[in-house]
Amino acid sequence: MEKDMEQLRQKVLTCQNCPLWETRQNVVFGAGNPNAEVLFIGEGPGEQEDKQGEPFVGRSGILLDKMLAAIDLSRDKNVYIANMVKCRPPKNRDPKPEEVAACIDYLRCQTRLISPKIIVCLGRVAAQYLISPTFKVTQQHGQFHQKNGIYMGATFHPSALLRNPANKPAAMEDFFTLRELIREVCQHTY
Ligand code: URA
Ligand code: SF4
Repeated sequence: MEKDMEQLRQKVLTCQNCPLWETRQNVVFGAGNPNAEVLFIGEGPGEQEDKQGEPFVGRSGILLDKMLAAIDLSRDKNVYIANMVKCRPPKNRDPKPEEVAACIDYLRCQTRLISPKIIVCLGRVAAQYLISPTFKVTQQHGQFHQKNGIYMGATFHPSALLRNPANKPAAMEDFFTLRELIREVCQHTY
């Protein structure tokens, strides 16, 4: 395992472990504070992310940043943001199981280096891989349970909220729940 995030980033930037490398413009490694106590995990880069090499910079990213700001979180300060796969699936389709399998060790390594207290899955894809294969975001969002010493939970994917704004209040409640959990279990986030 790489000893720091920069070393890992350098390795991932040239990765060709799965076919997604052929259609990418940029690898989207992740962003934020590598010493964060809270780690957000999305699905994979979209069009804007692929163009810019940064996670959540399109419309969904603007929404995510607003929701983070509402509970005094920011990628420039006290959270880290990563994805299940680091290269964009064509036309934003779900990443295939074999693509996730090829990429997941990078996320594992990021998680070990960060050593977060809390992991928030953004949407079904991350939640079903990381929490439970039968996870239902509409029913189980906002519930945090300890797994291997880390509090794990999920909320609506910001892209899903853009498609279905009726879920925005429920998503905001999840963020308020998260704020309470941070106050309980984190030392230097706030
Ligand atoms: N959606 C994701 O899941 N991740 C991103 O980085 C951007 C959009
Ligand atoms: Fe490598 Fe992951 Fe990109 Fe596939 S998605 S090429 S495994 S970095």
